[in-house]
Amino acid sequence: MKKQLIAGNWKMNGSVTANEALVKALVAGSAQAACHVAVCVPAPYLAQVQGLVAGSVIAVGAQDVSQHESGAFTGEVSAGMLKDFGTRYCLVGHSERRQHHGETDAVVAIKAQRALAAGITPVVCVGETLAEREAGRTEEVVKRQLAAVIHTNGHCISEIVLAYEPVWAIGTGKTATPEEAQQVHAVLRAQLRAATDHAERVLIVYGGSMNAANANQLLSQPDIDGGLVGGASLKAADFLSIIAAAH
Ligand code: PGA
Repeated sequence: MKKQLIAGNWKMNGSVTANEALVKALVAGSAQAACHVAVCVPAPYLAQVQGLVAGSVIAVGAQDVSQHESGAFTGEVSAGMLKDFGTRYCLVGHSERRQHHGETDAVVAIKAQRALAAGITPVVCVGETLAEREAGRTEEVVKRQLAAVIHTNGHCISEIVLAYEPVWAIGTGKTATPEEAQQVHAVLRAQLRAATDHAERVLIVYGGSMNAANANQLLSQPDIDGGLVGGASLKAADFLSIIAAAH
């Protein structure tokens, strides 16, 4: 059976002091982890966290990457720069970036391509808003978001990690039920199957208020291959419980 992935998304949280305490506790508590483990940290902390996780099972991820390779793009961070710091994963198209930074499906697809070209695994986030779910448009929305990434990345699509994150569940304490999440994951898996012979090996992780109490049930669903964890990844004990629930 393929190993699940539990990835923390710290968002814009952390400090040199807080990171050290958190990551040291995670390293100490995750040595026996049965799953892949990653922490996606703010770019300025990549080097610090890379140093702290050295020799452990924990991989380091970034939260965004520029759609451009290099040049006059003030404030942007390229995939090559992320790779320089040993970055293994990079979130792409998180709903907060789609919402607050105007990232379109096409931009998200190019960002995934940049990451792949640099040897970084993009964790491509898709998910519907509450209004879209209530209008019965969930499948249409996530399929549109994934289709753009498939269109741009072709057969390389089997190299991505896909994250289903219903926008209404992010940071709200409202989780999709295991059945609701599984239903969307199955739709995404079917779409991947139509695009690649290797759809079974793509990890499709769930995100949106995953916590120590609900992780076990979510992670038992046949098409849920891990979790993308925001709030609960900032507390070592909670994040370690989620890691312990994964296989
Ligand atoms: P949450 O965030 O776990 O705090 O809901 C998940 C995410 O945004 O990746």
